[in-house]
Amino acid sequence: MKLLVIGSINMDLITETKVLPAMGETVFGESFGTVCGGKGANQAVSAAKCGAQTYMIGAVGNDMFGKRALENLKANGIDVTGVKTVPTSTGVAAITVYGGDNCIILNKGANALIDKKLIDDNADLIDKADVVLFQLEIPYETVLYAAQICKSKGKTVVLNPAPISGFSPEILKYTDILIPNEFETGNIVGYTITEDNCERALTDLLKLGCGQAIITLGSKGCVYNTDSEIKRCGVYSVTAVDSTAAGDSFIGGFCISKFNGKSDDEAVKYASAVSAIVVSRMGAASSIPDKGEVELFMKEHSIS
Ligand code: RIB
Repeated sequence: MKLLVIGSINMDLITETKVLPAMGETVFGESFGTVCGGKGANQAVSAAKCGAQTYMIGAVGNDMFGKRALENLKANGIDVTGVKTVPTSTGVAAITVYGGDNCIILNKGANALIDKKLIDDNADLIDKADVVLFQLEIPYETVLYAAQICKSKGKTVVLNPAPISGFSPEILKYTDILIPNEFETGNIVGYTITEDNCERALTDLLKLGCGQAIITLGSKGCVYNTDSEIKRCGVYSVTAVDSTAAGDSFIGGFCISKFNGKSDDEAVKYASAVSAIVVSRMGAASSIPDKGEVELFMKEHSIS
C-alpha cells in the first residue's frame, strides 16, 4: 500500500504541568521537551513505522526546527521529495500537558505556504499513491483542491478534519473515509456528541456524503460503520501519560491495517492498539510504536 500524506509538519514545544495558570498568573512546570510533531507528520510516521510505503507533501521553514523535522521523517523511512523548505519559520505547536491530556496553540509557519502549486509540482506523488491522507493544519483551499484531484484520479481519500476551524462540508464529496474526534464531529453535525448519541452523529456524517466515518471518542473508544452496520470499539486500557498524537497514530494505524486488506473491525482494533501505546508515552512522533511493538502489545493486552 502506497500512502501519500498531504499535511503539516511541526516542532512541538511540550510543557508538562500539575497546575494550569489563570490569565495573568505564572506557575512552575514539571518538564519541558522539544519533539517532532504536526498532525500530518505524526500520521505519516505512524503509518510508515507500521509498514506503509509513505510519501509526504508539505513544507518546513529554513530554520533548525525544519532541518530536524525533515531528518525525523527520513529516519522513519518517509519519502520527503514533496516537502519544500521555504523562507519562513517551521510550524510550532506550544503544547501543555496536564493530567494526561493536552491543549495546543499552533503557529502555522511554513504549513501556511502549502499552496496549489506545491500540489501541482508533486502530481507524480499523487499518481503513485493508493491512498491520500489529509488533515486541516494546512490551508483549506489547498486541501480541497488536492482532494478533488485525488478523487478524479481514483485515489482513496481519507480526511482527519482537525483542527475543525475552516472546515466546510463541501470537501466530503471528495472524501472516502472521514475520521473526526467527538469535538470535530459536534462542529460538523451541529450538536454536542455524547456516548448516547454518537451512532446518530455517525449516521448524520454519512448523510453529508462520505462513504465511511470513524468518530474517535478518546478513552471511550470509537464508533464506525462497516458496509452493513454501525459498530463500536473499546480501548486497550493503559496509564495515560500524554495524549498528544493519540488521534494521529490511530489514523495512521487504521490506514495501514485497512488498506493492507484487514476488515474494518480488525483495522479499528489495530488502530486502537497503536494509539494506546502512544498515550502511555510522552511526546508526539517519538512516542509512536513500530509494527513489532504493536503486534506484541496486541498479544499481551485485550480490548475492553
Ligand atoms: O495531533 C497532535 C499534533 O497536533 C501535535 O504533534 C502538534 O504538532 C499539533 O499539530
